[in-house]
Amino acid sequence: MFRHGKKNPCKLCLQKRGGKCYILIMSNPLHTIFGLRDNGLPLVFLAPMAGYSNAPMRRISHRHGAAMSYTEMANARALLNPSERTWALMETTKLEGPVVAHLYGTEPDVFAEAAVKVEQTKRFVAIDLNAGCPAKKVLAEGAGAELIKDPQRIHDMIVAARRVVSLPITLKTRLGPSPDKLAIYDVLAAVEAAGGAALALHARYTSQGHRGDVHYNLLAQVKQRANIPIIGNGNVHTPYAAWHMFEKTRVDAIMLGRAAVGNPWIFTNIRDSFKTRIKPKYHPPTHSRPKMNLETLGKVLFDHLDLEREHLKVLSAKYGIPPTAEDIEETVVNAFRCRHFRYLHSLKGACYVRKCLSELRTVDAVREAVQGCFDREAAYRATLPPKPVKPVKKKIPKKKA
Ligand SMILES: Cc1cc2nc3c(=O)[nH]c(=O)nc-3n(C[C@H](O)[C@H](O)[C@H](O)COP(=O)(O)O)c2cc1C
Repeated sequence: MFRHGKKNPCKLCLQKRGGKCYILIMSNPLHTIFGLRDNGLPLVFLAPMAGYSNAPMRRISHRHGAAMSYTEMANARALLNPSERTWALMETTKLEGPVVAHLYGTEPDVFAEAAVKVEQTKRFVAIDLNAGCPAKKVLAEGAGAELIKDPQRIHDMIVAARRVVSLPITLKTRLGPSPDKLAIYDVLAAVEAAGGAALALHARYTSQGHRGDVHYNLLAQVKQRANIPIIGNGNVHTPYAAWHMFEKTRVDAIMLGRAAVGNPWIFTNIRDSFKTRIKPKYHPPTHSRPKMNLETLGKVLFDHLDLEREHLKVLSAKYGIPPTAEDIEETVVNAFRCRHFRYLHSLKGACYVRKCLSELRTVDAVREAVQGCFDREAAYRATLPPKPVKPVKKKIPKKKA
């Protein structure tokens, strides 16, 4: 455990002199559990997001500082069939860093069998059970957030998987079905009793979906009670919010989802703020991405599109989805429409690109439209008055008494 020196109180966790630093915890158990590299900074993960957290997004997030990421959600039963297309969701590529396989299901035997097959791929550092997805299709099967109502089943599923695999089994869940039905303490007890390795908590109720308050106090209480590491999640859109979650709840790691869509720099910005050990100023989430250099932005966006295309080629060859070269092209264009458009957030030409998107059919056409957007933004920026240069403060050496 890291202790602050007597002279300097920690600017990172704001602990008093000589106190324990809860952020620079040298022996964060999550490093060992997931085999993560310890660079002495707090852990920030990319959350599982169906339709988003695929191999290209994970790779780009890792490159920008995500310590670990999760696959999209896969149906455990579907994974029992080796030729099943659901396996496309478990495809990984190089340079993604540590990845957790994220599954949903309801039956202990099926979950265990799927866990064995996932472990055999040797691609993952852990297997995570979803107990928080509020999608109707998933709830109808009794899976996802429905599982919160049945801690015993969660226990049995984890026990069954642990019997047959050596990878750590973790759970991602919510506080409970609704504010009058807090269930997290029972779920936590079930996970601990079953030997679950860690618990990721999206600190909202199922009834809240992805909106409304994140309940920091409850997250903090869960962390205080837990004997396993807790990963905090919910509304971390800025470096300030990352600090806030660590400070308020003292969780072992944080996980963020929506903020990383079209904005992998969120990981870099959070990491850099921890490096400086100076708490960032509060910014509303809409201003979460500082104005970016257009060249950097374009490089990452175009790289993302290329990775997406390469990834789809692999999926097409292995699973037949998408079936043809034209379909691959169309799927990349669609991905841009739905997901990568967020890269253009707050740029001058973004509205213009949005208007033409429905007519674009090829990746080259998308590239051209995006380049047009950058040109408009560059022209706009050229009209702005130059930023005033901040005077450099001279350090005045202290006089010796
Ligand atoms: C489009 C989308 C898809 C998601 N898919 C999953 C999922 O498959 N499994 C899961 O546990 N959570 C899923 N989530 C929830 C996120 O993992 C995360 O808990 C939630 O978005 C709150 O974190 P955030 O405020 O950082 O986005 C999804 C969220 C979004 C927005």
